[in-house]
Amino acid sequence: MSNLSYYHFPTEIIFGSGSSEQMIVEVKKHNFNRILFVADSNVVKFDFFNTIREKFEENFDVMTFSEFSPNPLSNEIDQFEDKNIDLIIAIGGGASMDVAKALSVSIDHPGKILDYDEAKGGDNKIDCGKLIPVWAVPTTSGTGSEVGRSAVISDEETKQKKIIFHPNLIPSLVFCDPVLTENLPSKITAQTGIDAFVHLFEAYCAPGFHPMADGIALEGMRLIEKSLIRAVNAPDLEARTNMMAAAMMGAVAFQKGLGNIHSCAHSLSACFDIHHGLANGVMLPYGAQVNLSSLGEKAQTVSSILGNSSSAGDDLPHLLIDLVTESGLPTNLGAFGIVKDDCVKLSRYAFEDGCHQTNACVMTEGMFVELFNSAL
Ligand SMILES: [Fe+2]
Repeated sequence: MSNLSYYHFPTEIIFGSGSSEQMIVEVKKHNFNRILFVADSNVVKFDFFNTIREKFEENFDVMTFSEFSPNPLSNEIDQFEDKNIDLIIAIGGGASMDVAKALSVSIDHPGKILDYDEAKGGDNKIDCGKLIPVWAVPTTSGTGSEVGRSAVISDEETKQKKIIFHPNLIPSLVFCDPVLTENLPSKITAQTGIDAFVHLFEAYCAPGFHPMADGIALEGMRLIEKSLIRAVNAPDLEARTNMMAAAMMGAVAFQKGLGNIHSCAHSLSACFDIHHGLANGVMLPYGAQVNLSSLGEKAQTVSSILGNSSSAGDDLPHLLIDLVTESGLPTNLGAFGIVKDDCVKLSRYAFEDGCHQTNACVMTEGMFVELFNSAL
């Protein structure tokens, strides 16, 4: 196919319309035989998935795992007991990618998946020789988990998100096919697209010298400014292509770090089971407001990307409210029935979350209380 570009940063990526059709060719090249598809319960109903599966079944021994939640739980990983898998192919959004990576660890390692929680030093227990290779086929443009090195798995009891990390968990081959996102509903396009924007924005605002991440973050935000509303309202392949690239760029950029918005989003998902992208969208303007005085000329640069080239940067939170509103997403916590009394627990969870360690300014638990209150 002549319209495909082959990238090798940060992993091998086949990008372009129709790239998913190359999957079977690549599997044959690598001599894999026993293939596990990890696809969520929606994806397994799609025609494209069944077409792929039927083609694979003619050539390989194929299994499909789809029994997991939108925020995958540790017991859902632990229940998978099959061995002798040559290759895991994740097809879907962030949840499918997370589950595929977690299974890559759990299938051939002893114990339970949360024994490998990065926060408890679990990454040191991962033997890279025992990881099952993972390939990824994203069907949403948001988490960028297809080019990420970690899996997010929630503790089955507390619902708190835990990170399973290893540099070799990055999928070794990624098929980015924007055609697979063409029929994505507006709401999911908006929620996942805002998540991608927050990855880029927080990475750019994170302190530290990382011009590669900063450059990728700026271009990613430009692509989203140009294409998110278009993809939400009147989907076209160019907008979908831009969003798929931007999502991937977000995950590459945030190796520099994230910030207070993601800590709030993780807390909202744990306490109120709110979709990750939706939670990021609602907190985006308020998290940016807290950071505004620490951003310097970065605020002006992002304001300019969002359409106000004469701005000094102080209107950034308002421009972000406009972006979230035009995407059709809520901009206050009242939309979820959250009240002032909830802010104490939300703040504790957010403060315990690791993402704000790279926030533009140092966050205290009290600052999170104020931040959640400002978003009511
Ligand atoms: Fe995110």
